[in-house]
Amino acid sequence: MRTSIGGQVIRAGEGLILPEEIGNRDESVFPDAGELDLRRDASQQLAFGFGVHKCTGQPLARLELQVVFAALFRRIPTLALAADLGDLPFMDDGLRYSVKKLPASW
Ligand code: HEM
Repeated sequence: MRTSIGGQVIRAGEGLILPEEIGNRDESVFPDAGELDLRRDASQQLAFGFGVHKCTGQPLARLELQVVFAALFRRIPTLALAADLGDLPFMDDGLRYSVKKLPASW
């Protein structure tokens, strides 16, 4: 028995290792996937997983982020990035992709 994904044949018993960092980078779903575009249609994004193990805390996480960002910018209206976006150091160890430092001014 075998199947094929993207032209790659996978036989019964063969293992797959899927690098998490390729999630949300499919150019056929997200054109210019490497660009930060807060206005893009992100309805197919995978940040909360997919399928039966999709994050059950997703509604709570979304609510918390809406509350936190609104409160943060209401309380510190002058909060701003204190570096050029292109100069930010990123961490990418295969498990996590995030900024190492996020200089801010207010
Ligand atoms: C921004 C915040 C969050 C992100 C990005 C996130 C992301 C994820 C992802 C990607 C998965 C799937 C893991 C997998 O496929 O094995 C997951 C599962 C899960 N998350 Fe979250 N999560 C967040 C917040 C939360 C919160 C606030 C809760 C609970 C209060 C929560 C509870 C869970 C649980 C219980 C699962 C396991 C679901 C299952 O296996 O059926 N998460 N989360």
